[in-house]
Amino acid sequence: MTEVCNVTEFVHQSVLLPEVIEALRPRAGGRCFDGCCGGAGHSAAILEASAPTGFLYACDQDGDAVATANERLAPFAGRFEIQRRNFSELADWIPSGSCDGALLDLGVSSHQLEVGPRGFSFQVDGPLDMRMDRRQGLTAADLVNGLPERELATLFWELGEERESRRIARAVVRERDMRPIESTRQLADAVERVCPRNGRRIHPASRVFQALRMRTNDELGALQRGLRSATDILAPGGRLAIITFHSLEDRMVREFMRAECRDYDLVEGADADLPHYRIPRPARASLVTRKAILPSDAEIRTNPRARSAQLRVLETL
Ligand SMILES: C[S@@+](CC[C@H](N)C(=O)[O-])C[C@H]1O[C@@H](n2cnc3c(N)ncnc32)[C@H](O)[C@@H]1O
Repeated sequence: MTEVCNVTEFVHQSVLLPEVIEALRPRAGGRCFDGCCGGAGHSAAILEASAPTGFLYACDQDGDAVATANERLAPFAGRFEIQRRNFSELADWIPSGSCDGALLDLGVSSHQLEVGPRGFSFQVDGPLDMRMDRRQGLTAADLVNGLPERELATLFWELGEERESRRIARAVVRERDMRPIESTRQLADAVERVCPRNGRRIHPASRVFQALRMRTNDELGALQRGLRSATDILAPGGRLAIITFHSLEDRMVREFMRAECRDYDLVEGADADLPHYRIPRPARASLVTRKAILPSDAEIRTNPRARSAQLRVLETL
């Protein structure tokens, strides 16, 4: 599929940049991995901090991002390798135990949100697409026009945390019964008709769009697998840094990191962490900071997109 983006048009301000560099401690001769390279802001900072001989593996499932990152990282030629792929599967690419740092800066880039034809935004009209990887078949329009009303409501509730999920699902079904929902504007208008804006700052369709985006790209499934694959490529003493923007993602990261720090597994099917369910094993990691690292007020002022970001960092033993 041909990509639509010109590299100069790709705009994204990296979130928690100094904090990520402090967490990963890139060094000359070291190897890092950036699983969400996007506009390559974090990637470039990692390469700068690990000059002159640090190496970076980077990937993104979005072709626009990979093209942009390749151009932006050109000054570091010979010190990086970029692939278009999902970070959830790294075993056939990066040798296990070979990296000192790994970063997942989850979610979407501003570029994806702002370019109409990508179909992520209720603010810019475009086809209801939302695929980060346009080689994939399923689009947001397939979900909106194909899922039963009940499943739509569950989706808006679970991934969008939308309180009006049932009412909105009903409105979506009413709209699609008249004609298929094909554009972002058509969907946003259908939502707004049952949940008027009434002066609210947040657009009433924003949670619905978030839920559809997360489901279209199987973001939680990719994260669950990606946590394991990104940890497996780390050498002992390596650091895994994850930036989340959604409470369900953050919970998954927190629970994964806690489990890596424990010195036992739970038997399959255990419904609670009780001593008689525990199977001892050595702990695999420790937390670098107990609590999530949050953006400063100054960062949120200059980049409002940072406001829901949380950074968690793990160090392998
Ligand atoms: C927040 S942006 C990253 C921005 C980047 N860190 C920077 O500084 O410019 C998130 C990127 O991750 C990519 N992405 C999300 N999930 C992915 C996955 N499972 N595999 C590969 N890339 C993914 C998106 O396509 C998007 O480009």
